[in-house]
Amino acid sequence: MAGYLVNDERKVTSHRFFEMKERGEKISMLTAYDYTTASLLDKSGVDSILIGDSASNVMVGNKTTLPMTVEQMIYHARAVVNGVKRAFVVCDMPFGSYQTGVENGVQNAIRIMKESGCDALKIEGGVEIFDTVKRILDSGIPVVAHLGLTPQSINKFGTYAVRAKDKAEADKLMSDAIAMSEIGCCGITLEKIPAALAREVTKAVKCPTIGIGAGNGCDGQVLVYADMLGLTQDFSPRFIRRYADLKNIIIEAVGQYVGDVKAGSFPNEQESY
Ligand code: KIV
Repeated sequence: MAGYLVNDERKVTSHRFFEMKERGEKISMLTAYDYTTASLLDKSGVDSILIGDSASNVMVGNKTTLPMTVEQMIYHARAVVNGVKRAFVVCDMPFGSYQTGVENGVQNAIRIMKESGCDALKIEGGVEIFDTVKRILDSGIPVVAHLGLTPQSINKFGTYAVRAKDKAEADKLMSDAIAMSEIGCCGITLEKIPAALAREVTKAVKCPTIGIGAGNGCDGQVLVYADMLGLTQDFSPRFIRRYADLKNIIIEAVGQYVGDVKAGSFPNEQESY
């Protein structure tokens, strides 16, 4: 079984992110939270793997991403790093790990890099966290910004509706994106914003934009692996394309296993010592 035929086996780096934007090669990114999944995604040819704080929803069943801690992100990121040879590995800074001041943000960023071995960090927010992002970048850590729908602020928004539909919010998003690009971020995630705005932002910034629910004009796309593989099917916004129906494959396979155990047909002689 073959994944995407990768024409460049070298490790993807922040530098190669810029090269890809320059030559118009779209960047593929998926989330992963564990070793086994990450090694499969890496073998399939994905360019970048994000240890999203969506681990909170996908792995733990929480309603929001807010409960994730630095320790938990490091645990998941370490597992992903162990499974990856080629993809650029980005880890989310969780809620509370950088909003509490520049020093605290830099310390947590360094800790996540040191203890997980990931390649870069992703941080939600615009100019309000400019100083923290700058100091993290100054410490030698590549940063991917995250604008638009920023799930760590869901209690402030009060809704998962599309962001930046009005001019004031669209203007702020554009100036946040330019600021993050100018200080040296190696990417900007654009979540759930109008496609036309994402296309404009993509043209205005030097670094690649990675969209989720932000249309086709971004330099790359990211999805939560469990959504695109159909492991989770309760959450169905229009930006998810399902490439497999693993939920039903698993339920059927486990059903067969349970049936075999109940019938006494597993294990058979060849499966015994
Ligand atoms: O946590 C996450 O999975 C994310 C993506 C949805 C971009 O931030």
